[in-house]
This record gives sequence, C-alpha cells and structure tokens, in this order.
Amino acid sequence: MEQRALEPIQQVVDVSYRYTVSFTTNLFSLDNSVLAETCVPSVSGRIVKILVVVDAGVSAANPTLLGDIDRYFSRRSATHRLVREPLVVPGGEIVKNDHQYVSQIQSAINEGGIDRHEYVVVVGGGAVLDMAGFAAATAHRGIRLVRVPTTVLSQNDSGVGVKNGVNEFGKKNFLGSFSPPVAVINDFAFLEKISDRDWRGGIAEAVKVALLKDVTFFEFLETHADDLRNRDEAAMRWLIYRCAQLHLNHIATSGDPFEFGSSRPLDFGHWSAHKLEQITNYAWRHGEAVAIGISLDSTYSYLTGRLSEAEWRRIITVFQAVGLPIYAPELESSLADRTSPLCILQGLNEFREHLGGELTIMLLNGIGQGFEVHEIDESLMIEAMALLRRLNNAESLEEANVIVRKHVSTVSATAD
Ligand SMILES: NC(=O)c1ccc[n+]([C@@H]2O[C@H](COP(=O)([O-])OP(=O)(O)OC[C@H]3O[C@@H](n4cnc5c(N)ncnc54)[C@H](O)[C@@H]3O)[C@@H](O)[C@H]2O)c1
Ligand SMILES: [Zn+2]
Repeated sequence: MEQRALEPIQQVVDVSYRYTVSFTTNLFSLDNSVLAETCVPSVSGRIVKILVVVDAGVSAANPTLLGDIDRYFSRRSATHRLVREPLVVPGGEIVKNDHQYVSQIQSAINEGGIDRHEYVVVVGGGAVLDMAGFAAATAHRGIRLVRVPTTVLSQNDSGVGVKNGVNEFGKKNFLGSFSPPVAVINDFAFLEKISDRDWRGGIAEAVKVALLKDVTFFEFLETHADDLRNRDEAAMRWLIYRCAQLHLNHIATSGDPFEFGSSRPLDFGHWSAHKLEQITNYAWRHGEAVAIGISLDSTYSYLTGRLSEAEWRRIITVFQAVGLPIYAPELESSLADRTSPLCILQGLNEFREHLGGELTIMLLNGIGQGFEVHEIDESLMIEAMALLRRLNNAESLEEANVIVRKHVSTVSATAD
C-alpha cells in the first residue's frame, strides 16, 4: 500500500462544569433536605452510597454531629446508604502533610464499593476539604465530591473553588488536581464553634478579593470591621456570600479556570503567605499569613509609587480593625541567610515554579485595581518589611502617622 501523508489530528474537547454553592443552617437536622437532594443517584430508584469524611476539630466542637449524620441517613435508608460510620480525620495542615489520610479515604471508597456516580461528602475546614478532595479526585479518576466547608475561609474561598491538594517535599499543595465539586453546601451554624483566630482568618481572603475586584465590598469591610471582629453573624454571612460570589465569578469568567497561564490574580499576597506558613511550620494560619502577605505586597505597591499613601493606610487599617496581623517577625528573621530554602524571598521562586512560566505577582494600583509585574525589587521588598514592622509596633494612630511621615521624608531626602 502506498504511504499516505498523516496530517496531525487536532483534538478539541470542551467540557463545562456546573455546581451549586448553597447556604443553609443545620444541614444534618432531620428536616433539612439539602444534602439528600444533592446526593441523587444517576439511575433513578437506585440506593446511592455515600462516604462521609469529618474533620476531627468539627466533631469535637459539635459532639452530636456524628450521631446526627447517622440519623440523617438512617431516616433516608430507602434512598441513601452510608458505606461506614463517618471517617474522622485530624483537622488542620497535618492532614495535608501526612498521606495516610488520603489512603484511608481511598480504602474506604474501595471497601464501600463507591462508584463514580456516588458520593464522598466532606465536612471540615479548608485543609480537610483539600485532602479529601484530592483522595476523591484520584479514586476511580474521580468520585463525586460534595464539600461542606466549616470555617470562614473555606466557606468564602477555598471550599468553593476547583482545586484540591496535599503537601509534599515540604511544599504546599505540591500534589493536587483541578477537579470541581458537584456541590458546595455552606452551613453557617458550624461557624458558631470556630475559634476567634479562624473566624478572623477567613476575613483576609475577603479583603483580598475586595481589593482586586470590588471597591464597594472593601467599603463594606471597612464599615463593618468592628462587627466582624465581634462575631456579628449578619455581617459575616454577607461577607461569606459576597466573597464566594466574587471568587466564583472570577473562576467562571477569567478565561483560565484551571490556571494554564502564569497569572493567578486570586493569589494576591500568597507568595509570601505560603512561604511564611512553611517557615513557621504552620504556626500562622493560612488566613493570618494571607493578611500579612497582602499587607506586604500593598506596602511594596505603595513604595513603588503605584498605590497612594491614603489607600495603603486604609488596607493596613482594615486588617488591624478586624484583628488580623499585618507583620510577622519571621519575615525579617528569615533574611539572615538569603540562600537558605527557608528565606522568605525564596517564596518568589517557589511561587513561579508552582505556576510554571514567568514569575507573575499581583500588586495594586489602587483599591479595586490590581496589576501584574514580572519582577520584584528585593531590596524594596525588604524595605517594605521594615516599614510594616515599624507600623505594627506603633501603639497609636499618631505614632503610626509619625512613622509614615518620617519614612516619606527619608525617601524624599534620598531622592534629593
Ligand atoms: N483549594 C484551594 O483553592 C485553597 C485555597 C485557599 C486555602 N486552601 C487551604 O485551606 C487550608 C486552610 O483552611 P482553613 O482556614 O479552613 O483552616 P483549617 O482547615 O486548617 O482548620 C483550622 C482548624 O479549625 C478546625 N475547625 C474547622 N472547622 C471547625 C468548626 N466549625 N468548629 C471548630 N473547629 C473547626 C480544624 O479542625 C482545624 O483545627 C490551608 O491548607 C490552605 O492551603 C485551599
Ligand atoms: Zn488563600
């Protein structure tokens, strides 16, 4: 037979994802049908099998939870069946560092005979959601995942997106995948029991998305800073709703939901936040580290002359008003050995590596106006750290004003 010219075959696969983020209270009370209506069988009439994974911090804070889950599904035994009692795993970063928990979930999926049309329901903070999401995404190449986020941060940010992951080689989220859930159910009642640190931590992601996308939302955060700090429920519910909405809207409309490009706007402030979490062995919570990271990159934006002094001060003030940190001593102490993998500035390189391609860092031109740069002036970044330290140590607004005035005059004296 004659040799034929074999043209390349151009393959294009378009896949669209739809999932609902719903809001409720007391998800496992017997008369709440949201979860049962979410976990539907793909063949009508078939009993659907479910594995529930629970964050130990959540079950400890809600002693009736495991019994409630059991009763909820027993009452619906004609349509739903738990393959085992809820699998309880530790909360927090430890669950992403130790891979035995991924294996435990995969074994439970295997032993329970859960197929790709059935469900893993995960109830917990962002760390447990990330880990369980990764386990579910890799079993049978993807079991349907329902996330029930239980912290502010996971309800307004990490739990509503399309990513999961665990840590490896000392790097955050080194292993992971992009796999959208089939549903996210935010139950506000879980927030009653979270610590003040975790209540406030999630506010950092709201400040982030407001700074990038929505001046009005930033003004809401400024106006309600005291309410938010004092655990006002109504203010927090709106914060979560609006933040989740802006986040979801970004994923749907940015044109790059699975981050093929080098740009990752929603990771504003995160290059140093991730590194700070790692350097301090996760002593800073993610949200706290993000508040520090945003304060740092906002200060850098101010020092480069892009962000006005007034807007920069509003950002620092809003973090302080809600009770979030703006500075960590580890930023500067880690600079002692610039070649050490534990130097904060190495976070820039790791950020580039994680994204691939060119270093792309989001900075601010103004509140609501992000812009990207591909290079960072390290000495100016170090200056930003020192300025933040001084502001952080200021005991009054007057003292903070003096620090900034002094800084401005030093800069103009140098410029002269
Ligand atoms: N996938 C993503 O896109 C994405 C985005 C941002 C952050 N994250 C990840 O999210 C994680 C942080 O999540 P987080 O801030 O939710 O904290 P977390 O998951 O670390 O939880 C903090 C602590 O709160 C406990 N807890 C959770 N819910 C509780 C409740 N209702 N009552 C009492 N205690 C409760 C947990 O047991 C844990 O001890 C980090 O690992 C971060 O990397 C992922
Ligand atoms: Zn984050």
